[in-house]
Amino acid sequence: MRSVLRIINPYDAGVFPEGEVINLSSNENPYKPSKAVKKAYLDSMTKINRYPDASYSKLKIAISEYLGIEPERISVGCGSSELISRVCEVLVEELDRVVIPMPSYSLYLVYAMLREASISTPIFEKYEINPNFFEDLKPKLTIICSPNNPTGNTVKKDVVERILESSEYVLIDEAYAEFSDENFLNFVLEFDNVIVLRSFSKFFGLAGLRIGYAISNKEISDAIEKIRLPFAISSPGVEAAISAIKSIEYYIEVRNKIIMERERIFYELKKMEFEVFPSKANFLLVKVQNDVFEFLKDKDVFVRRIDNLIGLEGRYLRITIGKKEENNVLIKFLRSYRCKSSA
Ligand SMILES: Cc1ncc(COP(=O)(O)O)c(C=O)c1O
Repeated sequence: MRSVLRIINPYDAGVFPEGEVINLSSNENPYKPSKAVKKAYLDSMTKINRYPDASYSKLKIAISEYLGIEPERISVGCGSSELISRVCEVLVEELDRVVIPMPSYSLYLVYAMLREASISTPIFEKYEINPNFFEDLKPKLTIICSPNNPTGNTVKKDVVERILESSEYVLIDEAYAEFSDENFLNFVLEFDNVIVLRSFSKFFGLAGLRIGYAISNKEISDAIEKIRLPFAISSPGVEAAISAIKSIEYYIEVRNKIIMERERIFYELKKMEFEVFPSKANFLLVKVQNDVFEFLKDKDVFVRRIDNLIGLEGRYLRITIGKKEENNVLIKFLRSYRCKSSA
């Protein structure tokens, strides 16, 4: 076995509790698919003896219309997770410098390490990236997440522009872009060295179907398409994704509910004097001192515990925004936790 595998830590996929619990741990969309998506998925069942269309051209055209970007610039994968790996495979040679500003999504490290890259993980408090850092390093690839998981903030445009001057390629992971009013899609058209990653798992609530895509220049897009799994996305997944794009009004309504709840929970947590990070995604990061995670777990409310992630010293909780009634239960228990701990 390759020796690099001995130093790669497994990706922490979180907990998957079963039964009647409130699960706010994996940044999923709490809402069910639209009726049209459910129908498209079920109708496709009659064809699952056949392979999906290997070029995914119908899906790419739907995504292209959704984004207003030519289909030739779009490559697809089994979740945006697959595409993080493929981008590293396409761009990174052994010992190339890959810069991953921290604290951020830990999967980037797994795939950069697998390429045996020379990796830097500069720490920026609250993920406020200082572009001066990149000037001397001249990275082959910089991986940015905006809105960032787990801090929830977006990266400023002028910061990315500065990074683009010194980094040969910049991958911008926008898995949560639709929950924010800013994104870097235009950068793909303006700069030849930008790759933007998107997902159907969050805004479109299709995490279980595993559909992601990348937008880049045509050369990178062709290269990713050449090496990805031949049938990375199932045919029910394709039909559901196309139908989800057609149901955009439903998903915008869902998104608006999630954003309203995000702001409400933010202020509720502030009122309870928690240190909470402002967020442009579908989750909130909260600094905690002690056993809140266990307290909530005992009440069947699951959030993500983040202990000593690179760049986040101490203990934090990352709370996915659920439906209003789920969030109310969370708030109720956090209030009783506060009363208990101040008694
Ligand atoms: C920042 C970020 N990127 C990518 C992913 C992977 O998403 P998927 O593979 O479901 O598209 C996640 C999942 O939580 C994420 O938080």
